[in-house]
Amino acid sequence: MATATARTEAARTTPDGSLVSIRSVGKTYFTGSSAIPAVASASLEVARGEFVSLLGPSGCGKSTLLMMIAGLEKPTSGAIDLLGSPVLAPRRDIGIIFQDATLLPWKSALENVLFPIRILKLPLDRYMQRAHELLAMVGLAGFEHKKPGELSGGMRQRVAICRSLIHDPDILLMDEPFSALDAITRDQMNVALSEILETYKKTVIFVTHSIREAAFLSDRVVVMGGRPSGIILDMPMPFPRPRRFEVEETVEFTQVCRELRLTIEAAHGHAPSTHAAPAGASVIE
Ligand SMILES: Nc1ncnc2c1ncn2[C@@H]1O[C@H](COP(=O)(O)OP(=O)(O)O)[C@@H](O)[C@H]1O
Ligand SMILES: [Mg+2]
Repeated sequence: MATATARTEAARTTPDGSLVSIRSVGKTYFTGSSAIPAVASASLEVARGEFVSLLGPSGCGKSTLLMMIAGLEKPTSGAIDLLGSPVLAPRRDIGIIFQDATLLPWKSALENVLFPIRILKLPLDRYMQRAHELLAMVGLAGFEHKKPGELSGGMRQRVAICRSLIHDPDILLMDEPFSALDAITRDQMNVALSEILETYKKTVIFVTHSIREAAFLSDRVVVMGGRPSGIILDMPMPFPRPRRFEVEETVEFTQVCRELRLTIEAAHGHAPSTHAAPAGASVIE
């Protein structure tokens, strides 16, 4: 049985073991007579169970890259494989969370969590217990029958996280999911997300323009920037797990954030270009 499972797992990854393989992917938007180069050429491998953040200032192509991974935008060049097969269209093995929770306002929290099950025409009763478990996990036991309008912004985003996990996707794609929340709620959501992923292990690609958020959550932080935009740094985060908020108070955390900030600033011409890559980091392109 274990061998069969191992074989299935191996068959669902690329030959080098990556769950997500992004090879020289570029995207140019064509609007009317103008061509807007959003991503020049990005290459990235993500292993099963990894949490990778795409970090960079607004407009550097983070969402574009994420949408291409999701199959919602077509690359102009290059190729993307998920679980060993090319991404040609949206697919079931990923869950997506956007900046706004985009819940259906007339449906309860529980019904919103179960919505993908309806869309995928899976048996609702088989997923009911999981929906309750997920809502309890994010601290929403007792709120199952509340409508989105009766919930706070943080609570709505928790419901959206449960909805993205209900059909047990292999990969979670998150595009600035907490950037509309106030700073305190955002810190709480980061800790909550860490805890959720300790229970429901997933491979995550997370877009953010917050250096601290990326450093706190990630196994690796991938910095995007430059003109035209690409991946300029791929840096492992050295902090042990499970992570709690106290990690942000350590000297090491502050140093890592400083290195990330200097890299971003150098790419945008605001800092000396003599910045050296930190130990353990590899400049990709
Ligand atoms: N649908 C689109 N049509 C035309 N240009 C777009 C579109 N989406 C994004 N862009 C442009 O592509 C660039 C990258 O955008 P985006 O991927 O949204 O960056 P980020 O998520 O890092 O803020 C920007 O210059 C943006 O204006
Ligand atoms: Mg964006």
